[in-house]
Amino acid sequence: MAEVVIVENAEAAGALVATEIVELIDRRQDAVLGLATGSTPLPVYQALRSRLAGRDVSQVRGFALDEYVGIDPSHPESYRSVITREVVEPLGLDPKRIHVPNGAEATIQHAGEDYDAAIAAAGGVDLQILGIGTDGHIGFNEPGSSFASRTRVKTLTEQTREDNARFFDSIDDVPMHCITQGLGTILEARHLVLLAFGEGKAEAVAGAVEGPLTALLPGSAIQLHPHATVVVDEAAASKLQLADYYRYTFANKPSWQGI
Ligand code: GLP
Repeated sequence: MAEVVIVENAEAAGALVATEIVELIDRRQDAVLGLATGSTPLPVYQALRSRLAGRDVSQVRGFALDEYVGIDPSHPESYRSVITREVVEPLGLDPKRIHVPNGAEATIQHAGEDYDAAIAAAGGVDLQILGIGTDGHIGFNEPGSSFASRTRVKTLTEQTREDNARFFDSIDDVPMHCITQGLGTILEARHLVLLAFGEGKAEAVAGAVEGPLTALLPGSAIQLHPHATVVVDEAAASKLQLADYYRYTFANKPSWQGI
């Protein structure tokens, strides 16, 4: 099962995951990071700012999880723009080494295959950061997604479009389609780190970690991964049946082991 780490707050989660990423980059200068958008990973990126300052990150590579289809890449809410603004620029990464799925309509028919090929050519993702939607989606793999799915076009659910409407002038401006790494693609990353904060995520987290493997809750796919870490605050952990065991396990973990 996934290792569950219950932390005091989002800041503590950011510090914990940032430490793991810095150690990874120290071991491997051209580490391949799997980058996620949404508000959840922001404390990780925030903590990385100071941790990576002064380090050589020029070789670090990155692959984002997803992008809207048909959005202009220069639109402030395209995931290309979000990744540039929140990750590439503040961390001083080389923009040429950071990839985001291509949501352009003209090339969309082969964009998924191209993206999976680019990940494979990079040798795969070392550490994949993940958030989770209130309906249990990871990336943009909405309920019903195959556990074997590859990077492809999906139709966003009305719930996800409503959740994301806050970033646009109105819900009508939220694209209907997206291109997302598939669950099968995500499961190939060597280490999955899923973060979740707040009570609104408690049900999705409990389902993903302890529920049955089901396409209805795409996050449950992480149970198939040999090295998955779930970092949650108390509120997001509130529906976990084995919360005490997770606390006990983490408290007694050898310090050399990392997450
Ligand atoms: C979007 C993203 C997901 C993210 C989810 C949750 O749908 N495609 O990668 O996990 O939102 O967002 P937040 O972290 O803001 O709750």
